Amino acid sequence: MKVFLSLLCAALCANSAEARNPESEFHGQRTLPDSVTNRDYYDDGAPSPAKVELGRLLFFDPILSGNRNISCATCHHPSFGTSDEVSLSLGEGAKGLGPDRISSRSHIGGVYERIPRNSPALFNLGAREYTVLFHDGRVEVDKNAGYESGFISPARWKLPRGLSNALAAQAMFPVTSPAEMAGQQGENPIADARARNQVGGEGGVWDLLTLRLRSIPEYKERFSAAFPSEVRITDDIDMVLAANAIAAFEAHSFRADQSPFDRYLRGDENALSSKEVRGMNLFYGKASCSACHSGKFQTDHGFHAIAMPQVGPGKSDGWDSGYWSKSGYQAFPEDQGRGRVTGRIEDNYRFRTPSLRNVALTAPYGHSGAYPSLEEVVRHHLQPVATLHAYDGSAASLPPLNFVLEHSARGSSFLSSTP
Ligand code: HEC
Ligand code: HEC
Repeated sequence: MKVFLSLLCAALCANSAEARNPESEFHGQRTLPDSVTNRDYYDDGAPSPAKVELGRLLFFDPILSGNRNISCATCHHPSFGTSDEVSLSLGEGAKGLGPDRISSRSHIGGVYERIPRNSPALFNLGAREYTVLFHDGRVEVDKNAGYESGFISPARWKLPRGLSNALAAQAMFPVTSPAEMAGQQGENPIADARARNQVGGEGGVWDLLTLRLRSIPEYKERFSAAFPSEVRITDDIDMVLAANAIAAFEAHSFRADQSPFDRYLRGDENALSSKEVRGMNLFYGKASCSACHSGKFQTDHGFHAIAMPQVGPGKSDGWDSGYWSKSGYQAFPEDQGRGRVTGRIEDNYRFRTPSLRNVALTAPYGHSGAYPSLEEVVRHHLQPVATLHAYDGSAASLPPLNFVLEHSARGSSFLSSTP
């Protein structure tokens, strides 16, 4: 009897689901990606647990910051969708987490500047297809094998060998940034090394951080467990292994391939509601979102100029005196995106197509966090230029820079040489 009922249901329930399912009404063109598998990730999705655990400790450990007051997790917190819920983060020198993070004079040094770009979510970056990282792609697997490290990066020849993948190569950089983690000249030896532009080599930023890690007995044990063939004595520990462990942690913990859409791609036709199926058909059909948001993670890993509004100081690529007088920023509020990496004018204002995995959790949107809601950023795509002109910046979430110590080295030299 039980068997009969379930067979009946298999027939009837499937039929009734079909009648409600817009899938059956869909006759347009649509190509869905293949479903995600373990093989899409480094280590086939199974990194060593000891490496992941070490990476977790390092990701949350402020010891990697010059003034020992900020960790990777401050801007990429699991409670805020691996980001921080604000348009532009307050980095080194601020206090608190997410939207409650404030700049404060009581803290070492204070905040000197806003981080110029929106802190991106870190979902699925352990998938092998991510060979280019950052909004402008400035860390990239070097396909022409020109650099010994195997990566094109802002550190060029100084980037050491032994980094296991692009995600590990990326992890070498936040610690070198004065605004993100290193701190300002005069505040600590790491910031001083950075100010001398000494990142690699003896006495450089990575070397000083290595010495800190070696001085903590628990890390000695953790590194040996995570890298049994590389770490026998304390002196075998270095920043490269730390970056490899951080990458293993990010790859493992921020993997996201269990959404209803993933279940649908794996064959569960009832995983999506009829409204969701309609949206999927538009996304992969008439609306052509998948022209750029393509593949298993909804990104072509390419760069496109879609006229996303610029919020905040940007990367100081331009000059706008009106902006300066209105905002009080001693900076040049422009960000030329991919163009500042390649030096090609046609790449100006192009930014990497973001993945849309878990996108509902990662507001605000765009490379500078211009839009607070998904609806607004999607509407922007429909009429980019008109929407850019109508944009007034009031929707951006910019934590106030109380007591900000405005300073811009390039800015002041430029200003003093301007008549
Ligand atoms: C002060 C905030 C802040 C801190 C601290 C920070 N990040 Fe980030 N992170 C950012 C911002 C902002 C970007 C985007 C920068 C850009 O694209 O120019 C970014 C980019 C990244 C990316 C690239 C993501 C992508 O899709 O391209 C990764 C990975 C990452 N961070 C990991 C880390 C790790 C690991 C640490 C610690 C070693 C760290 N971050 C510390 C703010 C921060
Ligand atoms: C021409 C390529 C292209 C097409 C087509 C496209 N996008 Fe985008 N999309 C981008 C780029 C590039 C960005 C990031 C731009 C930036 O930050 O400056 C983006 C950003 C987004 C974001 C914000 C994500 C985030 O994390 O900030 C969403 C959501 C989004 N797109 C959805 C869509 C949808 C829905 C469609 C179809 C209606 C679509 N896109 C079509 C290239 C495209």
